[in-house]
Amino acid sequence: MSVVLLERPAEHVALIRINRPDARNALNMAVRKLLAQHLTDLGQDPATRVIIITGNEKAFAAGADIKEMADAGTIEMMQRGTHLLWRVIAACPKPVIAAVNGFALGGGCELAMTCDIIIAGENAKLGQPEVKIGILPGGGGTQRLPRAIGKYKAMKICLTGDLVAAKDAYDMGLVSEIAPDAEVEKRAIEMATQIASYAPLAVQQIKELVNAGQDASLDTALRLETKAMHILFSSQDQKEGMQAFIEKRKPEFQGR
Ligand code: HXC
Repeated sequence: MSVVLLERPAEHVALIRINRPDARNALNMAVRKLLAQHLTDLGQDPATRVIIITGNEKAFAAGADIKEMADAGTIEMMQRGTHLLWRVIAACPKPVIAAVNGFALGGGCELAMTCDIIIAGENAKLGQPEVKIGILPGGGGTQRLPRAIGKYKAMKICLTGDLVAAKDAYDMGLVSEIAPDAEVEKRAIEMATQIASYAPLAVQQIKELVNAGQDASLDTALRLETKAMHILFSSQDQKEGMQAFIEKRKPEFQGR
């Protein structure tokens, strides 16, 4: 069986399942390449509006595969180009929901942070323990974590390597929502279905704006927002959405 499975749990929703249970879903090169390939394909697939990434009950992903990189040198690490595969994941234009049970550590936590929404099981544990094995959070952790939760909490997590319980991660803004462990996937599919029922162009513009705006000045970001808002008035879905409201009926969005 493949180390990454693609499922279709609901209309317009794709679910990507990391499938290395014996290695706590450690992200080896095969997993990373398949994740990047699936996200590229689904990003271009008109039938897919929202994507979920998940693992199993024990692990979302326990980080980069330590056994695969233990003996690597600098040039080999460069040539593996994992940072490029990571960028492909982050560049997906459609919303990506991380459904996290068990461990989301190191590259696993960074993968979750590359997603747009994180739903965590109440017993999930997140963290950046790389410092304990002589490296650092190299998949975006030193940058995305402080942007998400602020410098001082991020420093503590990255420098101590201590794991963070789901409830604490929620309180600090690292997790969007907590669900009972057994219901994480169900809740992710439910939320994905809700988002998939909205106008895809509007949804994609929102994702792009929230992400692009974070690193721009407020003035520039607000201008981007205004332009995107105006652009949506060229879409059929804007006309349909507002007409449906006026006619007191459910809109039928087409992604045009
Ligand atoms: C390779 C791993 C692994 C990993 C677990 N395994 N995590 N293999 N890479 N990251 C393997 C174990 O070696 C073991 O294999 C099997 O999975 C089960 O793991 P256990 O440790 O026995 O399970 P458990 O006691 O439940 O503990 C789970 C755990 C622990 C807390 C997640 O495995 C752990 O601490 N893993 C490492 C976490 C980590 O340091 N992550 C950061 C990686 S560096 P065998 O063959 O013995 O059964 C990173 C850098 C990102 O992510 C940079 C991006 C480029």
